[in-house]
Amino acid sequence: MVLRAYTVEHEESATNAGKFSMTDQDFVQAGDTVAIASDHAGLSLKETLREDLEGMGFTVLNLGTNDETSVDYPDFGRALADAVSDGRAKAGVAVCGTGIGISIAANRVPSVRAALVHNEMTAAMAREHNDANVMAIGARVVDVDTARACLMAFFTTPFAGGRHERRVAKLSAA
Ligand code: RB5
Repeated sequence: MVLRAYTVEHEESATNAGKFSMTDQDFVQAGDTVAIASDHAGLSLKETLREDLEGMGFTVLNLGTNDETSVDYPDFGRALADAVSDGRAKAGVAVCGTGIGISIAANRVPSVRAALVHNEMTAAMAREHNDANVMAIGARVVDVDTARACLMAFFTTPFAGGRHERRVAKLSAA
């Protein structure tokens, strides 16, 4: 498993964009667009992660929701997945209460591989083994620090390729 020491960098990255370092192996690079979306249950965490993404040097496409009015997670999961699928964003972050509904919605769009993550290990494995291009997370499931660590792990872990290429290809072939 390829995991860099990111905790300290991460603490600094939210307030200091220059501190976050990527390698050319990373699937998204500073300056690339990353989309983010949530329902009302994920709004607060979405805003925290949006700021972190900006601190990491990404251009963030915020697809809402932007207030606490109750909304339907499939609408936001679909909007996010469409942005990744049509190339407006290279990757995405999806947040709802559990992360379950919005990940199901995102995964209905071809070419999107949305992974519901719970900790740094699952966030890293989603990239390393599954080449996930959307990280989904539950605001009512993980605490904010864990979610921020997941974000960093997801965006700094390269796809391992090799035998995983064949398996990921089968996801699209079904
Ligand atoms: C909203 O109450 C909640 O159902 C939603 O955020 C999500 O957890 C669904 O999977």
